[in-house]
Amino acid sequence: MLNWHPKSWQASQVSQQAKYPDREQLDQAIKELSGLPPLVSELEIDQLKQQIARASRGETFVLQGGDCAELFRECNSNSIENKLKILLQMSFVLEKGLNKPIVKIGRIAGQYAKPRSSEYETINGVTLPSYRGDLINQSEFTQQARAASPDRLLKGYSFASLTLNYLRTLFDNQYQELSDFNAWDLDFIGFSPNKEDYQRQLNSLKNNGSYECNMALQITPFHLKDRIYTCHEALHLHYEQALTRQSKKGKWYNMSTHMPWVGMRTNQLDSAHIEYIKGIDNPIAIKVGPNTSATQLLHLADIIDPDNSPGRLTIITRFGENNIYRHLPQLVNAITGQKRTPLWCCDPMHGNTKVTGSGHKTRNFDAVLSELSSAIEIHHTMGGHLGGVHFELTGENVSECMGGARNIEEKDLARAYKSLVDPRLNAEQSLEMAFQISQLMQRSFNPAISNFR
Ligand code: PEP
Ligand code: CO
Repeated sequence: MLNWHPKSWQASQVSQQAKYPDREQLDQAIKELSGLPPLVSELEIDQLKQQIARASRGETFVLQGGDCAELFRECNSNSIENKLKILLQMSFVLEKGLNKPIVKIGRIAGQYAKPRSSEYETINGVTLPSYRGDLINQSEFTQQARAASPDRLLKGYSFASLTLNYLRTLFDNQYQELSDFNAWDLDFIGFSPNKEDYQRQLNSLKNNGSYECNMALQITPFHLKDRIYTCHEALHLHYEQALTRQSKKGKWYNMSTHMPWVGMRTNQLDSAHIEYIKGIDNPIAIKVGPNTSATQLLHLADIIDPDNSPGRLTIITRFGENNIYRHLPQLVNAITGQKRTPLWCCDPMHGNTKVTGSGHKTRNFDAVLSELSSAIEIHHTMGGHLGGVHFELTGENVSECMGGARNIEEKDLARAYKSLVDPRLNAEQSLEMAFQISQLMQRSFNPAISNFR
């Protein structure tokens, strides 16, 4: 791309950035980061692009999921194992239900920077900068903790690297153990009014021979050359810039993650974030919500993906269960009218956030499911298909989202509310969501037939 450079975003309007008191320290951190090795490879990035191209043709399906905001202190074996485990379990269920390979992309190993709706937070008359994610500052409500510190950029790089290293080790060496069907925690099924459906899906997974047999033989058909990919919001542009490297062929890649995305708060046509993202060759996702017009989306697509290149563009929609019918059809119309073929992915989390009387941010399992169901139906009715889903989830037994088989209620939220930003589905709710998606997708393709007979 002519005249583009990893730093060219600096000439544009930039929002959602930390204010560093000491500019020299920041420059020093960026310089150090720029000299450190890449976290992912060009080959992996190109492979993911091919997988996304396949998903946009309906040959694979994308599962994106992980924390809203990863925490440095949770960079430990348990937490990483549990996240990988739940993503694998969901992908097994989806693979069987949808009968296609699942492309697994964790919101992991770098999801450390958060956009915030207010720059400052006031508690008991004291006003301090908002917590912007572990890459920038700390969540404790003290002046010192909330000051943005450039050292955290180097820490973030290190924690991303440690996380990715363990993720790769687990995937390559403990895949079987992690996905062992007998170790799945399925007690929640007994509590659900849908238990028969879930049980039927499970039996089908267990009994059709292919699953266990293939596991035993270590030749699950779809997983043979599989890997786990990573994604995060490309929000902190100095960090992203420092990890952007030029390949031997002259292309620029963001080497800190396979798939960076631009969030809804930074997706304006003339934003620094769009200027940055357009120049890198990774597969790019862009989040769109109720404020995104069809015209804006078409312009964004022209900027990011001028050639309608397979696998380049993923559009992640996040409207909320009550808004999706008002917004998604016109965006789909506009995009297909231009003969564009991006991957359509549904984030049913961010449009369905509510704050309870006790002050907990939460989401309801049924609202999440309802937005998903509408997305599937809208794409299908309009002659296309939903090619992926995007969740905030964790492998832990947290109580952040309401509903699900055990029907977590408002009064239960305090039990294990751990997220510092947005509420995540817990492990059981996540697996249950996978059962539900399988069913919804099957019904949309053939209302009279279920694969799980
Ligand atoms: C997020 O994914 O955590 C996020 C902030 O999303 P959005 O840009 O859709 O609000
Ligand atoms: Co979030």
